[in-house]
Amino acid sequence: MKQYLKHHEWQIIEEGFDPHLNRISESIFSLGNGMMGQRANFEETYTGDTHQGTYVAGVYYPDKTRVGWWKNGYPEYFAKVLNAPSWIGIKIKIENQELDLAIYKVENFQRVLDMKQGLLHRSFVATFPDGKKLKVDAKRFCSMADGEVGAIRYSVLPINFSAKVQITMAVDADVVNKDSNYDEKFWDRVYEESQAGWVVVNVQTKKTLFQVCTGMKFDLKIDGNSIHGKTNTNVREKYSDNVVEVELEQNKELVIYKYGVVLSSENHAKDKIVNTCRAKMDAATKTGFDKLFDEHAAVWAHKWEECDITIDGDVAAQQGIRFNIFQLMQTYKGDDVRLNIGPKGFTGEKYGGSTYWDTEAYCLPFYLCTSNPKVARNLLIYRYKHLPKAIENAKKLGFTDGAAFYPFVTMNGEECHNEWEITFEEIHRTSAMAYAMRDYIEYTGDEAYLIEYGLEVLIGISRFWTQRVNWSKDKNKYVILGVTGPNEYENNVNNNWYTNYLASWTLRFTQQAVAYVKKTNSKKYNELVERIHFKEKEEVGKWADITSKMYYAEDKALGVFLQQDGFLDKELTKASDLRASDRPINQKWSRDRILRSCFIKQADVLQGIYLFEDDFTTEQIKRNFDFYEPMTVHESSLSPCVHVILASKLGYKDKAYEMYLRTSRLDLDDYNNDTEDGCHITSMAGTWMSVVKGFGGMRLREGKLFFNPFIPDQWKSYSFRMEFRGRVLKVKVAKEKTEVVLESGEPLEIVLNGKNTRL
Ligand code: BGC
Repeated sequence: MKQYLKHHEWQIIEEGFDPHLNRISESIFSLGNGMMGQRANFEETYTGDTHQGTYVAGVYYPDKTRVGWWKNGYPEYFAKVLNAPSWIGIKIKIENQELDLAIYKVENFQRVLDMKQGLLHRSFVATFPDGKKLKVDAKRFCSMADGEVGAIRYSVLPINFSAKVQITMAVDADVVNKDSNYDEKFWDRVYEESQAGWVVVNVQTKKTLFQVCTGMKFDLKIDGNSIHGKTNTNVREKYSDNVVEVELEQNKELVIYKYGVVLSSENHAKDKIVNTCRAKMDAATKTGFDKLFDEHAAVWAHKWEECDITIDGDVAAQQGIRFNIFQLMQTYKGDDVRLNIGPKGFTGEKYGGSTYWDTEAYCLPFYLCTSNPKVARNLLIYRYKHLPKAIENAKKLGFTDGAAFYPFVTMNGEECHNEWEITFEEIHRTSAMAYAMRDYIEYTGDEAYLIEYGLEVLIGISRFWTQRVNWSKDKNKYVILGVTGPNEYENNVNNNWYTNYLASWTLRFTQQAVAYVKKTNSKKYNELVERIHFKEKEEVGKWADITSKMYYAEDKALGVFLQQDGFLDKELTKASDLRASDRPINQKWSRDRILRSCFIKQADVLQGIYLFEDDFTTEQIKRNFDFYEPMTVHESSLSPCVHVILASKLGYKDKAYEMYLRTSRLDLDDYNNDTEDGCHITSMAGTWMSVVKGFGGMRLREGKLFFNPFIPDQWKSYSFRMEFRGRVLKVKVAKEKTEVVLESGEPLEIVLNGKNTRL
């Protein structure tokens, strides 16, 4: 854990420059706008430890993965999110000395992420080897108003000298991925151009042939007046720049405005992309930094109005939740069905920028409650569009007759992950799609979704489960063998309780969906039956049989569900007894030692209880929580939030608060010693759920909202806002009372602390 950032309600503040923390800060201070994003790299040269990262939504590379440990059934490739061309570079050279914070003395360094307005602000004074002092102030944003535009205001002020400064402003597409083998490059050149005042670089990915055209145009100003220094234009493969020489006068600020435009061939015709880029650069420059910023900040103001959570009396907790919401909002905007939410968003390369079950199990509720229902619907449509690939994926593994097995990791619907214990065995993910659908339909009331898209997906998934279970003569039950549950610190286990429960629930839900669609829209139903060769009687009969005879590992004496068969053979010790030097165990222990231990990476049985809470008594929930939580090391970011929600329900106030800080400040305080790889974006939606479903006790039952709030002792009050079926609700919880206000929309009946209340 590292606690070097200052607490502030709306800002993340780093004071003083510590190069050892630079990679962590580069992740935390990242910027994005749903279409592109970048780590908080410096504009000027930095030769110290850094992970330079710029990313463009939807652009990836299928990296070949034929390796010695190849297993039949593995996908051919692993999709990588690609480090994309960078438009932020501004190099400063004064009398042959290049500004570089790795070398020069740095004072008054401050890096601030203003979350309210989506602005990265950095300032410092650097002393050059010959004693020259230069004050630098850099502001940067990726426009939320136009996802293809970003802007920088970079000012330099000579404190104790006058001299000529050489400024190099570039677009650099000669980039490598941090995770590429042998510095392999994934971009081919298409076109470069450099003219006085602007440059353009167009490149294309190998294999996938995505083009990304990046341009920059700039303006230099002293005292508000544009100046034009001596300019050299340079072009080389995948790189273009302008080198401008300007006289700097002591105590006079030179302001560099740099406008970046990033276009992807996913949104622009390749033969027009360069011209469009030029036109957009002109337009952005004409609009100017201040106006572009105002437009961008206005979008943020609106977003915050929609989804802010306030916490009074606890600045660390307030900063944590806003940081989580900020990152989520700048990662995914929900207006493009081809896009999804990578576990690291635009903050790093780990997890390949791909889509995981995280989206359905964690992110969906956040977007469902805070955004227009279209956003959540688009997330579901994304998976609907991948259904043919899920069927193909299942086929490759030997399943038949339209069984759909959704990938664990994907960019375009194809599985692109190859660790056998995950690719083949972490099968619970395919049902996360079904659960998300139920969540969406219950919350929005949009049952038409089931008719139009949903049922087809459900039947595909159910066909998978039908073939994946087997009948155990010994147990006289259906069992599911050779799986990995959500807790990846166990592999190849039998009868993971979570997996069996979810499989059985899916089959039950699909039966209901079949009956519903058949009754409400027989025409559509019959069309579907025809198209996917659905044998209703036989298939539904089989599902009913499986649901009624599914085996669930359980220990009656202890009164707990067993994570898997044989769990009790393990030596059951507590995570709190582990030595600090052994944690996190995934960085300190060998894999086999982890697998043999009882330690749990993330909620597993508890994940199931959280999803199906109403199926269990409070006593059952308590026994399972008390049994599993002490063995849980929370080394997946997805773990603490589930524990907040259950601990809140059980009245374990301190545990709920401890887990809340862990989920909301996971990256800010680098709990798991891995923030340098990027922020944990998908679990941030879990942080939001921790407040709303955890402390706020919000649940939806049969179309009705329930609130059962409590307030952590450390807080004076907290509030959140939700959209629900055309209405906007504001919930404010204080020590002495809870207020639920219907801000707009039709009257609504809710249940507050067990009492029916009309709003
Ligand atoms: C977790 C998975 C998750 C993935 C991406 C892993 O560490 O165990 O459940 O899908 O991270 O967030």
